[in-house]
Amino acid sequence: MTDHPDYWNRLYEEQGRPGWDMDGATPLVRDMLDLALPLGLRPGSDLVVPGCGYGHDAVELDARGFAVTGLDFAPLAIQGAMKRYGDRVAWSQADWFSTQLGPWDAIFDHTCFVAMDPARRPAYVDACAHHLRPGGLWMAVVFHDVNGRPGPPHAVSMSEMRLLAEARFEILHLAHATNSHPRRLGREFLLVARRRQD
Ligand SMILES: C[S@@+](CC[C@H](N)C(=O)[O-])C[C@H]1O[C@@H](n2cnc3c(N)ncnc32)[C@H](O)[C@@H]1O
Repeated sequence: MTDHPDYWNRLYEEQGRPGWDMDGATPLVRDMLDLALPLGLRPGSDLVVPGCGYGHDAVELDARGFAVTGLDFAPLAIQGAMKRYGDRVAWSQADWFSTQLGPWDAIFDHTCFVAMDPARRPAYVDACAHHLRPGGLWMAVVFHDVNGRPGPPHAVSMSEMRLLAEARFEILHLAHATNSHPRRLGREFLLVARRRQD
């Protein structure tokens, strides 16, 4: 059951460095910030990385001047992040669907949305909106192609993403990524969306 931390924890336990781990931040951190800063992301604002795994993206965002929380519900992910990076960022072992989280100014989502069972996507979008301050930004790196493999990760088309996000967000940017890690080239898109006022 991919909605339970035990599923992911077992993968960290069995594989040490699971297949999704790039041993460094995605090159798309830079592309995303180049997009989001002109769209209203404030330098230095507080930002959460859900499903942070071993924390590479969270630490990269910290180095770029944001106040970062790296969040994951798998204990071994958080332990691995702390072992690699110490307390450079705030690590939180928590379930993204908890209502007790936030608020943050922005979300940097890299392979967390696509890790969800597709039936949970609308609830995931609600959780993103819940955890953001009004006007906050959801930045997401999303697979539209998973090489035909059964998920997770589960591929999402850009049109599906638009429909899902528009329930709670105004879409500011939705386009193919051009600077992915070589193993992921041509298979990812970038979303920047602003939480609607409600
Ligand atoms: C495919 S891994 C990606 C990890 C990291 N983003 C990376 O790229 O290396 C997905 C991560 O999301 C976490 N995760 C899945 N569902 C979650 C939830 N409901 N709340 C918090 N973390 C979750 C898993 O424990 C796992 O570490």
